[in-house]
Amino acid sequence: MLGNGLKDKVLLPNGHKIPCIGYGTYKLPDDETAENCVKAAIEIGYRHIDEAAYYFNEKSVGKGIRDSGVKREELFITSKVWTNNRGYDKTMASFDQSMKDLGLDYLDLFLIHWPADAHEHDDWAEINLDTWKALTELYKEGRVKAIGVSNFWPEHLEALMEAEIRPMVNQIEFHPGYRQPRVFDYCRENGILLEAWSPLGRAKVLGHETIVKLAEKYGRSPAQICLRWVMQKDVIPLVKSLNRPRIEENARVFDFAIEDEDMELIDNMEEAGFSGHTPTNVTF
Ligand code: A2P
Repeated sequence: MLGNGLKDKVLLPNGHKIPCIGYGTYKLPDDETAENCVKAAIEIGYRHIDEAAYYFNEKSVGKGIRDSGVKREELFITSKVWTNNRGYDKTMASFDQSMKDLGLDYLDLFLIHWPADAHEHDDWAEINLDTWKALTELYKEGRVKAIGVSNFWPEHLEALMEAEIRPMVNQIEFHPGYRQPRVFDYCRENGILLEAWSPLGRAKVLGHETIVKLAEKYGRSPAQICLRWVMQKDVIPLVKSLNRPRIEENARVFDFAIEDEDMELIDNMEEAGFSGHTPTNVTF
């Protein structure tokens, strides 16, 4: 999603605003490392922090957020409910636990982390609807400003489209080496904002010859090329790093643009850096 800087925001389908790049917190150790990384990211200018109960670091990420010195209303905080807490009651309880661990009193965005899927559940659609009811309730109560899903394929989304409130966001694996065109097109056609997890393909895409060549052409790093490509696709990258210079580097993507022909080169890259996780094989 384009913008002129880290603090620039774009509109969610309900009018709430979301900063155009997020700082990802998966795998940050639940100690001072997470606290310090989050504080560094906010100091550098990130205003959007992507969390999840499954990351098991909400306490230290929450502390980093609270100690950052930036007002809560200037920050955009996301969390997600994990697969072991599907269904209305458990989702409500999981939300309360996340809020307690983060030490916050509302979230900007709350997501279902993975859909219940037919490979495990005959009644997968009902399970997802029941979980979705909890998110809808939290949204109506004003405890979350927006609601959505993560890793949903069109068939999972379709089963929620008649719900009182539709998903506003779908957070998926999305990078030059794994572009999920079927999900991408469905979300575009249905006004669902896309967010990209692993926008660098867990660093495995950075050595791909197309990315390396473009990095040389534009005088940028391979990571900056990947992030800029994601943004020019109107997708919000959620980028992770524990390393301050790289957290800074990943924020310097607003002063150049990838030309159309080079966007196409990336659009046609072969698969690279795919995590291997899909709704049909996730059992964890
Ligand atoms: P590190 O934390 O040491 O910076 P993804 O978000 O696609 O899953 O990728 C995350 C991985 O990419 C992490 O291993 C992170 O390592 C690495 N990374 C993040 N930013 C950069 C960068 N600018 N250059 C190289 N590697 C990076």
